[in-house]
Amino acid sequence: MAGKLMHAVQYNSYGGGPAGLKHVELPVPAQKEDEVLLKIEAVSINPIDWKLQKGIARPLLPRKFPFVPSATDVSGEVVTVGSGVKNFKAGDKVVSILSPMSGGGLAEFCVAKGSLTVPRPPELSAVEAAGIPSGALTAHVALTQYAGVKLDGTGPQKTILVTAASGGVGHFAVQLAKLGNTLVTATCGARNLELVKSLGADEVLDYKTPDGAALRSPAGRKYDAVIHCTTGIPWSIFEPNLSGNGKVIDLTPGVSTMMTFALKKFTCSKKRIVPLLYSPKGENLEYLVKLVKEGKLKTVVDSKYPLSKAEDAWAKSIDGHATGKIVVEP
Ligand SMILES: NC(=O)c1ccc[n+]([C@@H]2O[C@H](COP(=O)([O-])OP(=O)(O)OC[C@H]3O[C@@H](n4cnc5c(N)ncnc54)[C@H](OP(=O)(O)O)[C@@H]3O)[C@@H](O)[C@H]2O)c1
Repeated sequence: MAGKLMHAVQYNSYGGGPAGLKHVELPVPAQKEDEVLLKIEAVSINPIDWKLQKGIARPLLPRKFPFVPSATDVSGEVVTVGSGVKNFKAGDKVVSILSPMSGGGLAEFCVAKGSLTVPRPPELSAVEAAGIPSGALTAHVALTQYAGVKLDGTGPQKTILVTAASGGVGHFAVQLAKLGNTLVTATCGARNLELVKSLGADEVLDYKTPDGAALRSPAGRKYDAVIHCTTGIPWSIFEPNLSGNGKVIDLTPGVSTMMTFALKKFTCSKKRIVPLLYSPKGENLEYLVKLVKEGKLKTVVDSKYPLSKAEDAWAKSIDGHATGKIVVEP
């Protein structure tokens, strides 16, 4: 592929939103020893992609401009394989999660670590596969490592609240939680109440109603863990809804979360809020892909865009009202 050009989308500076995205021709990247080169069939957009453009990790990320957005969740076909990658060959269909540091997903080709690439079974379309990585991995880590839910259904029953259960992470969190021994309450907008119920939630609250805004379980349940997938809910709302050892797992921790986290730790409080941090693992991605193959988990797709309309996908994510995943198809 040396010297071949591809269509890609990049931005040249912080800020600018969808209008800051530029369509360019770039050389197809060359894979390193531990990487595979993929022809991308589908890539999903996550809030972190446009938050990085906005400057959330300034000046650390992006490391340099111009930057082809991370758009970390890709599905495609292996073109070439680095000498250190033993488990793939040209022509294999795969799913990968890219590093937000290196970026590269909004393009026709990208390089991915062999260790973060897993086979895509024929039962999965490229679009549903590209919806899996960040959303499902985040939900999986939050539930298994932070909330202590065992997805084989063993272990004591836990009461779980998922906020923004209609979003890219939340819709996976509801489904995964229900594989465990859990009672799940979920919040979403009125238009998605039926969808979230169909994903397995035992109770669904419209976040724009007084009970929804108060996170109040209709059955009077107190939550052992909250998989908190939205922002702007203060500790004073969570606190009365938590069980004695209840924990809020905050996916988007801001200053107030970090202050409450520190205070609760300092005072040895049993009710806590914790920021979610994790590094993706290939074995977990493989497990999640297997669940989708077996029909135990599904990707809800909000919308699909061609690469030529990547800025519309970007705008849709910034808008904050996706139901499931936003996918771009090069
Ligand atoms: N820490 C990590 O590693 C990590 C990983 C992944 C994601 N995240 C973060 O997690 C958050 C969620 O990501 P996502 O991809 O799921 O976002 P998303 O798909 O953009 O979420 C959109 C959904 O949220 C719903 N929503 C918005 N405000 C709500 C509220 N107050 N109550 C209930 N539902 C609400 C919207 O419903 P309506 O349209 O009805 O308003 C919409 O369906 C983002 O901030 C993201 O950056 C963190």
